Amino acid sequence: MDYYKTKESVDEYIKMAEGHSGAALIEKLKKFLPKKSSLLELGTGPGTDWKLLSTDYLVTGSDNSVEFLNRLIEREPDAEFLELNATTIDTNKKFDGIYSNKVLHHLNDQELEHSIGRQTEILNPGGVICHSFWKGEGSEVFKGLFVNSHMEKDLITYFEPFFEVLLIESYPEFDADDSILFIGRKKH
Ligand SMILES: C[S@@+](CC[C@H](N)C(=O)[O-])C[C@H]1O[C@@H](n2cnc3c(N)ncnc32)[C@H](O)[C@@H]1O
Repeated sequence: MDYYKTKESVDEYIKMAEGHSGAALIEKLKKFLPKKSSLLELGTGPGTDWKLLSTDYLVTGSDNSVEFLNRLIEREPDAEFLELNATTIDTNKKFDGIYSNKVLHHLNDQELEHSIGRQTEILNPGGVICHSFWKGEGSEVFKGLFVNSHMEKDLITYFEPFFEVLLIESYPEFDADDSILFIGRKKH
């Protein structure tokens, strides 16, 4: 899966994502995660949401694309960015919150389960997660990228053993109800 890993594809994604941000999602997260909390962002990409999150939170950005990471580090030399795979989240750091916007749909069902387990391990007690997904059923390969869509009931099945559901709702990204926002609080 080389998309997001090459200069050309990252340039293309940045252009395509212009004018899009997770501002509305972040407003919802703010209702549950207090200001000044530590927050890990998975799949920071161009850094649009990282910038918005950084006004309220102590944000660590991350991505598994070195191409995105190099650009972020050059633009924000004082900030912390980690090279992390969203499945394994291989870090010893602990956080009060974890955020991702349109990232976890690149994981297959098994990888998503593994990621959720890791998220519970790296969250402080009562930690909050906030993730967006493409809404739908099944998976496809788009531009060489694996894309796994989910319905609300499936997400609840995955997250509920570990997270109290604080909010789950559809919202429009490009089309009506094409996306789902999930916010949960760690149970144990
Ligand atoms: C659709 S983009 C979203 C980027 C950003 N969150 C945004 O809203 O613009 C997906 C991002 O997830 C990253 N990504 C894809 N698979 C990943 C994985 N397994 N682990 C970590 N990051 C991943 C890509 O490099 C890319 O930055």
